[in-house]
Amino acid sequence: MNVIVVNNFNRMSEEAAKLLVAQVRTKPGSVLGLATGSTPLGVYKLLAEYHQAGVDFSRVITFNLDEYIGLAPDHPQSYRYYMEENLFSKINIKQENTHVPSGIAPDLEAECRRYEEAIRQAGGIDLQLLGIGSNGHIGFNEPGTPFDSTTQIVDLTESTIRDNSRFFDSPDEVPTQAVSMGIKSIMQAKSIVLIASGGSKADAVCAAVHGPVTPEVPASVLQLHPSVTIVVDQAAGGRL
Ligand code: F6R
Repeated sequence: MNVIVVNNFNRMSEEAAKLLVAQVRTKPGSVLGLATGSTPLGVYKLLAEYHQAGVDFSRVITFNLDEYIGLAPDHPQSYRYYMEENLFSKINIKQENTHVPSGIAPDLEAECRRYEEAIRQAGGIDLQLLGIGSNGHIGFNEPGTPFDSTTQIVDLTESTIRDNSRFFDSPDEVPTQAVSMGIKSIMQAKSIVLIASGGSKADAVCAAVHGPVTPEVPASVLQLHPSVTIVVDQAAGGRL
């Protein structure tokens, strides 16, 4: 693992954005795996700036990690909405090249299979951007998720619901389930960039990098991947 500790959120965002842009410049038809949440917001802002400065996303294909079950794409807390707001509307990506699992498909099991197949048909993910939960989750793969999991319906833990309630009016409104790419789906990416910011992530980052490789800390599986870069600010890297 290549671990980079930088001073603050902005520097973390710059490092990660540089890696994504280098990927797109090297291979204009790159398949990018994308995350939502607070941590990638700076990265997406910078990608929009890179686009203004000439970086072309017209051939890029994206797959998001996850979506809440029950939220329609136009729901302001859905991850599709987040992606449109924060990135897709700001770069010249083609709408049909952007993929977020559906949280309202009538047959969610079929949706999981369809999503996994779509990734395969696109040639697999070249670079996967990840955040990390304070409990060590990646995507919405909570502690205990088997390493051989593919896209599936997951139950969110109390701690994830609590962490994510800041985006909703009350914790009761946070969906309790999501469709998430599995650990195996993530590990099949050719390269992975994990970003983390803030002291609430310090224990999870330390366990992921230095702890035993165990499903109890889903991010620890990254120790087994040949090409992982972890970019953390000083607070998130405080226990490394
Ligand atoms: C989001 C995702 C999650 C988040 C993680 C950290 O698509 O898959 O694993 O990356 O929960 O969230 P933030 O960045 O909000 O702290």
